[in-house]
Amino acid sequence: MSLTAADLQTLPARLWRELDAATSDAANPFRTPVLGTTNLFECSMRVVILRGADSSKRQLIAYTDARAQKVHQLKLCEQAHWLFYDPVRRVQLRISAGTMVHQNDRIAAEHWQALPVTNRKNYCANLPPGTDIHAPGDAIDPALKLPTATKKQLEIGYENFAVLVSTVDQIEFLQLGDEGHVRAVFNWTAVEWTGLWLVP
Ligand SMILES: Cc1cc2nc3c(=O)[nH]c(=O)nc-3n(C[C@H](O)[C@H](O)[C@H](O)COP(=O)(O)O)c2cc1C
Repeated sequence: MSLTAADLQTLPARLWRELDAATSDAANPFRTPVLGTTNLFECSMRVVILRGADSSKRQLIAYTDARAQKVHQLKLCEQAHWLFYDPVRRVQLRISAGTMVHQNDRIAAEHWQALPVTNRKNYCANLPPGTDIHAPGDAIDPALKLPTATKKQLEIGYENFAVLVSTVDQIEFLQLGDEGHVRAVFNWTAVEWTGLWLVP
C-alpha cells in the first residue's frame, strides 16, 4: 500500500481490521504471530495462533496450555510483545501489550465453549508442555485423539486451558518498499491512537 501523511490517522483502524481478518483466515501470515514474553532476565519467543483481535477493546487473544513457560513468564511480567510479519506485502507489526492469563474463569469458560470439540485434545496432555519424555510424542491419551472422543472425555483439558488477553498499548508499523520504507508508531493515549512517522 502506498501511504501519505494523512494515513497517520487511518492506519491504526486499518491494521486492526487486518488483524481481525487474519483470525479467520488460515492462509493469512498475520494469523501466526510470534509472542514474546520475559522473566525479567531473558526473553522467550514462540509462534502462536491469533484467536481474536478486537479494536474497540484493543485486545489480541491467544490460547495456550496454562502449564506452559509463557504463562509462568506472563505471571512474572505481564508486558508481552507480538510480532506479525507478512512476507508478501513486506509489512511488520511490533505490538506491545499488557497480558492477562485467564484460567478457570468466565473468559476461559466462554472461549472453551467456542472451541471446536476436536481442538480440545490439545489441552489434554498428561504432562506439562516442555516436560522431557523418553520418545517423540505429545503425552495425549490416543483415545482422546480419535474422532469418537466425546465432549465429556475431553473436558479434562479445561483445567489446562488458558486464554491470553493482551491489551495493546503500542503498535509499530514497518513497510518495506522498492521506492522507500515507511515506519510509524502508534501509542494509545487515553482515548485515541497517537501516531508518529519514524525513520525506518
Ligand atoms: C504454527 C504454530 C502455531 C502454534 N500455536 C500455538 C498457540 O496458539 N498456542 C500455544 O500455546 N502454542 C502454540 N504453538 C506452539 C508454541 O510455538 C510453543 O512451542 C509452545 O506453546 C511452548 O511454548 P512455551 O514453552 O514458550 O510456553 C504453535 C506453534 C506453531 C509452529
